[in-house]
Amino acid sequence: MESKPDGKRQGRILIDHVEKVYDPEGVNVHACRDCNADIQPGEFAMVVGPSGCGKTTLLNAIAGFDNATGGAIYLDEEKIAAPDIVQSPGADRMVVFQGGALFPWKTVMGNITYGPVMQGKMRVNEAVKEARELMDRLGLSQEIERLYPDNLSSGMKRQVEIIRALINDPKVLLLDEPFRALDNISKGLMHEYLLSVFELTQKTIFFITHDLDEAVFLADRIFVMTTRPGTFKAVIEVDIPRPRDFRVLATERFVEIREHVKAEVEEESMKAFEAGERELA
Ligand SMILES: Nc1ncnc2c1ncn2[C@@H]1O[C@H](COP(=O)(O)OP(=O)(O)OP(=O)(O)O)[C@@H](O)[C@H]1O
Ligand SMILES: [Mg+2]
Repeated sequence: MESKPDGKRQGRILIDHVEKVYDPEGVNVHACRDCNADIQPGEFAMVVGPSGCGKTTLLNAIAGFDNATGGAIYLDEEKIAAPDIVQSPGADRMVVFQGGALFPWKTVMGNITYGPVMQGKMRVNEAVKEARELMDRLGLSQEIERLYPDNLSSGMKRQVEIIRALINDPKVLLLDEPFRALDNISKGLMHEYLLSVFELTQKTIFFITHDLDEAVFLADRIFVMTTRPGTFKAVIEVDIPRPRDFRVLATERFVEIREHVKAEVEEESMKAFEAGERELA
């Protein structure tokens, strides 16, 4: 678990009146408007909202890939996005990408150790030792360390990507629909895997999804965004006790919360749909 010398836990993401306007060839696209959220250290935050509402935009701003045009984002005391700073990605914020991003020409071990070795944070043998410890702790067989990504199942690739992120000991993990392409069984296994990672590491997780079952199963809180320009319109607490396993999917409370989230998202999707209809009319 990340903690400072004074014992205070790390990994708070404060999104403070964030605006994002893209300006492709002089045509303004207002992606995020007055976005506010206070994600606590060690919280599992799920973000849902209609397509094109600005979810990835916000994740990119937290990751340091693209700046906010207004407001600010803080990771603990550090300002990580705002018009008045020069932004950059950092090993304290690791992203697990939607399409996967393993180097196909490197082995599993080569992929996991690449980051800390390249940044000069660890020697190769230290990184290998750390990788093996992580794989062991998180239940990933070390037998796969010599394999290349093409020889792994989709689910296993995601597990390797998560370990590749964790070896940097980030404060937060950022995930953008990471399991979208998986079949239902692999997805279910990944959910349980990610929950065990979460329970073991207590990292703050910022996870975007369109899958409402996934949102309720994983989250401490679900942050619902409006249609574009996106802002947070509701925060729904998931008061289902941890540790959770697939059996919670059949509980009354699970269904109740999912229906609540669904109603909030559908209201926004309908607005987006109607706005589209008007544009077409
Ligand atoms: N680089 C860019 N230049 C111009 N417009 C952009 C850029 N990136 C995103 N947009 C626009 O900003 C809006 C928000 O996009 P974003 O990708 O953040 O949405 P999203 O909520 O992640 O959508 P989805 O659920 O489909 O992934 C969209 O209208 C999109 O077309
Ligand atoms: Mg997106």
